[in-house]
Amino acid sequence: MYLLELGGEDDAFAAREAASGAADVRRIAPGLAVATAIDPDRIRGLAYTHRASELLGRTDADLMSARALLETAPIDRKGTVAVRATDVHGSSGVSTERAERELGQILVNRGFAVDLDDPDHVLRATFSEGVIEAGGRLEADEATGALFKPADADGAQSIGESVSVCALGWLAAESVRDFGTRAPTDKPFFQPGSMDPLLARAVANVAGARPGATILDPMCGTGGVLVEAGLVGADVVGTDAQAKMVAGARENLQYFLESDEPSPTGVARGSWHVGRGDGTRLPLVDDAVDGVVFDAPYGRQSKIETHRLEDLVSGALAEARRVAPRAVVVADRSWASEARAAGWELEAAFERRVHRSLTRYVLVLERRSV
Ligand SMILES: C[S@@+](CC[C@H](N)C(=O)[O-])C[C@H]1O[C@@H](n2cnc3c(N)ncnc32)[C@H](O)[C@@H]1O
Repeated sequence: MYLLELGGEDDAFAAREAASGAADVRRIAPGLAVATAIDPDRIRGLAYTHRASELLGRTDADLMSARALLETAPIDRKGTVAVRATDVHGSSGVSTERAERELGQILVNRGFAVDLDDPDHVLRATFSEGVIEAGGRLEADEATGALFKPADADGAQSIGESVSVCALGWLAAESVRDFGTRAPTDKPFFQPGSMDPLLARAVANVAGARPGATILDPMCGTGGVLVEAGLVGADVVGTDAQAKMVAGARENLQYFLESDEPSPTGVARGSWHVGRGDGTRLPLVDDAVDGVVFDAPYGRQSKIETHRLEDLVSGALAEARRVAPRAVVVADRSWASEARAAGWELEAAFERRVHRSLTRYVLVLERRSV
């Protein structure tokens, strides 16, 4: 069993992204989840998970319980150790300094030498208390397809449950936190409306970006999603209706995916191709790619060329279904019924508040079999 430390503001969405690199992800407390297996390469490329650790055990969020757990837990490791503690959102009130000291002492008593600078093993001690929130997760009405916020309590998902958790685990993989180096305004080509790299990485991961997979963004804009998908090893394909965007996306992809520096996530960067095209008439054969991601124009800010926005999104959804079995759509409105009409099944939906007047919807779509 593994412990996942989630980041970002929405644990529900973070857990959904984590499922692209871990099996049977289940939230256990604010900011914490467990999984039955992980792929360390994939964990390194996650946006909203910071760390995965081999779970040593779980108890209540207080130091006495944590000490008792560590004193008796079976440990089959050799080498030096360090304890690093965290109190998620300051929720448990446990002093992390004291936790590190006292849990470290227990490891010393059990025969380990401490090396704070370069330990062979890091023990993560995570404390979290509070209610497991529904977050931005949405459900669809079966009859109409309309999205709604689920009830505050959901036994199966532990939503609404009040919990107090301390989880101890040996650090197994950490995600690479270099997103700040790809802020949209710092890229070689920038346009307003570019997606921030954290959300872009998360949606790329949910769409299936990984070595060996091909990801398409039919309305790629500045190439924000494609850059993130390429950095986790996917081969990426983009189209955009505007020549200016095509040239700009090429500039960004060349800069980030053809770098001579070793790839930060440890996997080779994917190949890329970008061309001018209409997302409703893609120059691709059926089933050409593994996943599609697109950030639909918001009407007010993106040029929509010759289409009405509704026709554009419906057309792009139909084309996406023709070329891929899975899609992730980001937009300023739901588009869930248009997705259904285009032959997609809604696997999950989330709303993300960007600021007071902008909520983004993220739809995760699976091709409906006919
Ligand atoms: C919201 S932006 C995408 C932003 C992008 N995710 C990024 O990070 O830069 C939407 C893009 O759709 C493009 N677009 C509009 N109509 C299109 C069409 N029919 N086919 C392809 N692209 C289109 C616009 O040129 C714009 O670049």
